[in-house]
Order: sequence, then structure tokens, then C-alpha cells
Amino acid sequence: MGIETSCDETSAAILKAGRKILSNVIASSLPLHQRFGGIIPEIASRAHLEQISRVSEIALRRARIKIRDIGLICVTNEPGLTGALLVGLSFSRALALARNIPYLEINHLKAHIYASLLGKGKTNFPFIGFVISGGHTNMFLVKDILHWREIASTRDDAVGESYDKVAKILGLGFPGGPIIEKRALQGNPHKIKLTCANLENSLDFSFSGIKTAVLYKCRELERFGSFKENIDNLAASFQENVISVLVQKALTACKKYKIKNLSLGGGVTVNNFLRKKLVEAAKAEKINVLFPEKELCLDNAAMIAGLGYGIFKYQSHN
Ligand code: KG4
Ligand code: ZN
Repeated sequence: MGIETSCDETSAAILKAGRKILSNVIASSLPLHQRFGGIIPEIASRAHLEQISRVSEIALRRARIKIRDIGLICVTNEPGLTGALLVGLSFSRALALARNIPYLEINHLKAHIYASLLGKGKTNFPFIGFVISGGHTNMFLVKDILHWREIASTRDDAVGESYDKVAKILGLGFPGGPIIEKRALQGNPHKIKLTCANLENSLDFSFSGIKTAVLYKCRELERFGSFKENIDNLAASFQENVISVLVQKALTACKKYKIKNLSLGGGVTVNNFLRKKLVEAAKAEKINVLFPEKELCLDNAAMIAGLGYGIFKYQSHN
């Protein structure tokens, strides 16, 4: 059983043998945050408290499993909103203790990447793991299920965060990722010139500069009365620049560490433009790319249970 409450999704999942998803129930409090233009931690914690028991019961019912048949409880312990994490952790600890069920705490970022391996048969160690989400942009060199070495991170904004902030600047609403992807389809990425920082001699990222560049461009266009007609072009140019850096850095990491497998995860990996660009570029370098199924890209408990089971099995055999 997996439990996830790190941000705005209350989720519970039941997996068979760590791979087959029997249920993956997700209740999002996103509608409650939308009018604020971002996630409000206190609202998220309260929503988790209201939802966690119900969501867990539904997950068990959908999987046709009784709590006494659960062999392991896995829960997200970091990173995330403190109050939100606390709800899932307290619930899971109490359940595990009361029912005498083995219990494991799981890192949310690693689970996002592990989602790309769920249901895919054999795991592909060693690989470069790349999480691209609302709060994080990190690469890991993953030797086996227990050995993850962080090799890159963002020095400021995460990619999803920059999509959300740019969407806000463009007046498109929250969350920004899906809206920008849609609007970019109708825009010309070359009409408005933007650049995304590509830190030389480093695998690290920086996305706050391009966000500010979009802000200044909008002000300039507004002065000339041509902002509205250029929203799609701004979205397209922003997306093309950001994704080009992500693709470039991912392939550079694979080359640097001589790794031929790349596994991704996190909310931004839903993005079709990213998927297409990365698959094309990786093919030329003979690198195998794995994305999670789309419903496993955003926050969910199946990925927590999947990674938890893998770690539990590894530890039991070693
Ligand atoms: O993984 P996630 O739930 O967040 C964290 O765990 O931090 O991902 C949420 C993020 C948001 O920033 C959202 O704008 C972005 O994923 N996102 C997208 C798309 N769909 C969601 N970004 C780009 N393109 C999308 N289609
Ligand atoms: Zn996440």
C-alpha cells in the first residue's frame, strides 16, 4: 500500500508484487487553491486530513483487498509541505503500528522517477534519473535501487514552477504547464526571442532568468499594444527554450557518466513537446528513454508503493 500527501494530492494505492497497480486513488485539492494562483500549504493540509481515510478505504475496496492482506505500507516522507507530509506520515505510522504491518518511508523525487519503471518488466540499472516537477528539477546517477547520487539541480526555480509563473504573467491561470503547452501549439516559437540560461561546465539549471525575460517582453509588447496577439508566441518561445535546455542537459549527463538509460518523472513529463524532443535527440545518441504512463507523472501513491516494494525486496535479499 502506498500513501502520498506531499503537496495537493491525497493519494492511496494498492500494488501487487510492487508492479501491478490494483488501485491508485487520487483526490486533489487543486480547485481550492486555484483562485490564489498557487498551492496554499494550510489548505492542502486540511484537505489531506479530510480525505486520507476515505481515499485509503476506496483504494482497498477498488483493489478488492482487506487491510489484513497488506504486506507493506509505504509513505512519502520528503520533500514536500511539512503539514501535508505530516498527515500522510501520521496516518501511515498509526495504521502500520495498529495492524503490525511492515512500514517504509519513501523519497518523493525518487518515486517520481521510479514511476517510469512501473509495469515495464525488468528494471534498467544503472540509469540517469531525471525528475522534472512543480517543485524540483534534479538529475541522479542511479546505480541500483538503494544508490542514488544527485548530479544536478536547479539553482533557482523548478521547471514546473517556471511554467506556473510564466502562465501567471501571461494571465493564463494555474497550473501553468497544461495551458502553456496548449497555447504554444498555436504560436510561433521564433517570433519572439527569449533565451534560457544554460550554465556552462555544469549540469545545473536556472529558470528564473527566462521568467523575468518573459515579464519584460510582456511589458514592452503592452506598450506597443501587441501583447494579446503575442501570447501564443510567447508561450511557444518560452517552452521551446526551456525544453531545449532540459534535453541538452539530460543527454550531456548520459554522455558524461557513460550511461545509456534515461528514466524521467514528475508533472512536467506529461508534456508531449518534451517527450517528442527528448525521444528524437536520444535516438540519435542510442540512449533508451523511459517516461511514466501519463497518469503516473503527477503526484500519486502508486509510485510510492512501487519504489517502496523495490527497496523492501532488495533489503530482504541483501
Ligand atoms: O509532479 P507535480 O505534481 O509537482 C511536484 O511534485 O512538485 O507536478 C506539477 C507541475 C506543475 O508545475 C504543472 O504546471 C506542471 O507540473 N505540469 C506541466 C504539464 N502538466 C503539468 N508542465 C508542462 N507541461 C504540462 N503539460
Ligand atoms: Zn511530485
